[in-house]
Amino acid sequence: MDFDSLGNTSVVGLQWGDEGKGKIVDLLTEYFDLVVRYAGGANAGHTVRVGEEKFALHLMPSGILRPGVLNIIGPGVALDLEILSTEIDGLRKRGVAINDNLLISLRAHLVMPYHKKQDRLAEARLGDSRKIGTTAKGIGPCYADKALRMTALRVTDLCYPDEFREKLGEIISDRNRIFASLYDDSEPLDAKAIADQWLGYAERLRSHFADTTSVLNDAIADGKRILFEGAQGSLLDITHGTFPFVTSSTCTAAGVAAGAGVPPSAVQSYLGVVKAYCTRVGSGPFPTEQADATGDLIRERGHEYGTTTGRPRRCGWFDAFATRYSVLLGGITQIAVMHLDTLSTIGDLKICTGYRVGGKPLHTFPADIRELEHVEPVYETLPGWQEDISAATSFEALPIAARRYINRLEEVLGAPITIVSIGAERTATLHRSTALRVARGRSPAVSGRAGG
Ligand code: IMO
Ligand code: MG
Repeated sequence: MDFDSLGNTSVVGLQWGDEGKGKIVDLLTEYFDLVVRYAGGANAGHTVRVGEEKFALHLMPSGILRPGVLNIIGPGVALDLEILSTEIDGLRKRGVAINDNLLISLRAHLVMPYHKKQDRLAEARLGDSRKIGTTAKGIGPCYADKALRMTALRVTDLCYPDEFREKLGEIISDRNRIFASLYDDSEPLDAKAIADQWLGYAERLRSHFADTTSVLNDAIADGKRILFEGAQGSLLDITHGTFPFVTSSTCTAAGVAAGAGVPPSAVQSYLGVVKAYCTRVGSGPFPTEQADATGDLIRERGHEYGTTTGRPRRCGWFDAFATRYSVLLGGITQIAVMHLDTLSTIGDLKICTGYRVGGKPLHTFPADIRELEHVEPVYETLPGWQEDISAATSFEALPIAARRYINRLEEVLGAPITIVSIGAERTATLHRSTALRVARGRSPAVSGRAGG
């Protein structure tokens, strides 16, 4: 792929998160000047492998691992300074330089200890059968305060310590009362201790606080190249995902401009990331889930355990019907397929190309999970391959069955698959030339309706 001609690019997850966005962002960062996180918070877990070293990043943009790149935590991020601080310490210990290569938006909202506490208490109250299965990082409660406005705190509020202490005191006093009466909580939070702790983080991180909106728009004017690092996945989007089993931010392509603070026209390409199969953590419908030996095999081979919470991920076949919905929603211009190597030796492979309800095909992705919970996936079965593919050096060198699998995914998704990942390392990445497929007489960019 010609990365140099990509323009400002957004990397967007097209499933339920954990698609491998971290690796793709790290790979592409070589061709960009800035990397921007624009949504979500420490609920994200982006894994990047550099040689023998593995980095699990939560709030830090993945561009931090490449010298010379400016990393921005944008206004749309739900920012937990406690987690970010720990992340900075951990990275520095491993020799990663963090200085003027990191900027934090003054407009970003702060995730506070009462947000995490509320996340835990609310989930516990819902119980195992009804809970969302959140990452307990306080994301929902933080964005709820953002929408409520008067009970929200932003990075910029830390620059006014007296007002910060006063407002925090009021908020915590109210939250303690709510937690005690609603959840029988008997461990009130200590407003003074939290204010001291947070003003300490502010002291430490002050040189990184900036009006990142103006920095980004200056960078655009200067012709700098910007990579936007999406978190979560389109099916977890607060509006378009499998509501209410979603996260609390706009994690489709539409969230980039709003969360980063750039005009929509500043983003030229949307690179969707999918796994060669499908996973989901937490509750909610998952039509192609294989809660059996096949799912277990995928989990073990793909190391499908949460980067943020360590929870085993639910695993299943590739859901092309759901993913096509994400492709259309996001105006996705190309796709990276991750973890193809995980499918080696699994046997026959299935791709879900449609849903049926009561024997009748659906033409659109259901708006209501009551319907989604009852759909019957329509599968196509493709032959698998027995070879270990992790050492392949070109797409053409893959076994024919592996190439057919990717070709079929491309057809049903309706967007060109330009990257195929066959391992965690940077080098375990195959590039697929669109020109090749045009020469074979197939249009690489199918747009518009994908049909049922
Ligand atoms: P990355 O960026 C996978 C899921 C949670 C839960 C739901 C709501 O690594 O792809 P939240 O804590 O956000 O309120 O949880 O969303 N979830 C993710 N799943 N990858 C993620 O991020 C996720 N971020 C949130 O498991 O089901
Ligand atoms: Mg993750």
